[in-house]
Amino acid sequence: MCTAEVRSWLHHPDPKTFPYDAVVWHFHRVGKHFAPPELLKLLAEVRDLLPDLRGPWAHVRTLADFLSTALDKPDQRYDYPTYLALAQLRLPTVDDPIAQAPFARSRCDRLTVQLVADALAFEAAVLDGRITLLPAMRPDPDLVTKRCKHGLRAIRPALRRMSLDSGLTEIEPVALARQVGSVVREDTSFDERRALELSILPVFTVHDEYLFLRVLQTFETLFALLAVQLRAAVAALAGRDFDRAVHFLDSSRTALQGAGPMFSMLATMQIESFRTFRQFTEGASAIQSRNYKLVESLCRTPDRERLDSSAFHSVPDVRLRVETGQNTTLDDAYREVRAAGDVSSADRERVAEAMRGFARAMLRWRNTHYRLAVRMLGDATGTGYTEGTPYLAASRSIPVFRTVEALGDEAAKTR
Ligand code: HEM
Repeated sequence: MCTAEVRSWLHHPDPKTFPYDAVVWHFHRVGKHFAPPELLKLLAEVRDLLPDLRGPWAHVRTLADFLSTALDKPDQRYDYPTYLALAQLRLPTVDDPIAQAPFARSRCDRLTVQLVADALAFEAAVLDGRITLLPAMRPDPDLVTKRCKHGLRAIRPALRRMSLDSGLTEIEPVALARQVGSVVREDTSFDERRALELSILPVFTVHDEYLFLRVLQTFETLFALLAVQLRAAVAALAGRDFDRAVHFLDSSRTALQGAGPMFSMLATMQIESFRTFRQFTEGASAIQSRNYKLVESLCRTPDRERLDSSAFHSVPDVRLRVETGQNTTLDDAYREVRAAGDVSSADRERVAEAMRGFARAMLRWRNTHYRLAVRMLGDATGTGYTEGTPYLAASRSIPVFRTVEALGDEAAKTR
């Protein structure tokens, strides 16, 4: 029993030697929702020690982030960021220096590839009988093959950019998933591996929750990238660097479009599995995704009604950012460009076209998400305390920008 290991660690608390494997194993055995009170009490003792711990800051931080995820339910602050253990992923943030924006994509590529490859490796290992993790409601092999196919399609471009695709020889999806798994594992550092291991704490023991968590984490990585790049596009417009503004807008559009297969991958989740583990995810909903709302509010200032709805009340710090005017939007920046006398109509038009392209991709994302939610959820309410899919139906056609006409929005809606 891992409580013995934690107790023994408490005699010589060193952040470098915390028995993560034993604790995580125990969480996996029963699901986070059912973690034994005795273990949770010990972990709370570990947390009390954090301020006095000596050792490299990175190790203390990893432990603090892990405990924040592990103890979210007993603390009654379980939510979307803690469910996904987002703190472990070290995503780029909108507050990073703008000069770092060009590097965000390679950081996100790396993380996306690792998250998806790990999800695929889990599927393959279960199929091969190599692990017994999350044994409830296993998918059949055909479904796993489909899952692998979509997952591989999602990361193929990033694998190419990372030069990890040259030795991939397998054709059959599960065999290729195994091969990708080992290539990516070899390229993964110890710290990255640790982050992957500590960022998967399902609430229950249903096989498909592994997929669900990894897909959500991958989308969060995408939204983080978009937030960073859109902020950089705003700054580029203010500095009259139109090449750079168009580059960041186009790169954001491509990234959003490229995530399509992630939805297909998630669509292979078994509906009954989803309905089983979501009994224990109440209170964690992507309506609490900061990066998604940052993206929305970097495009334009949300309407009063939306700011005052659960959409923004679920992300209080993003709402505050908007309310206190800390947020210059693409709409503001483009309006200023349009009003200025010193910008050629050709430059104005290529910026507008890049914005339109991004808006179309965003509307398509919302529609695909809506369709998946209808399929998985039916008439049930959302875990973010909305009425469920009617909330999504109402919000999916909200204009992305006000300054550029939403040409093609209607077409995107029906696709
Ligand atoms: C089984 C699949 C999914 C279902 C059933 C589902 C369902 C829902 C529902 C009902 C909401 C409304 C808020 C609530 O009450 O929870 C919502 C919001 C949201 N979901 Fe999902 N979702 C799914 C997958 C995803 C995925 C993979 C992502 C990617 C991160 C995602 C991102 C979002 C976002 C960003 C919102 C907030 C939208 C807004 O406030 O306008 N969802 N989802």
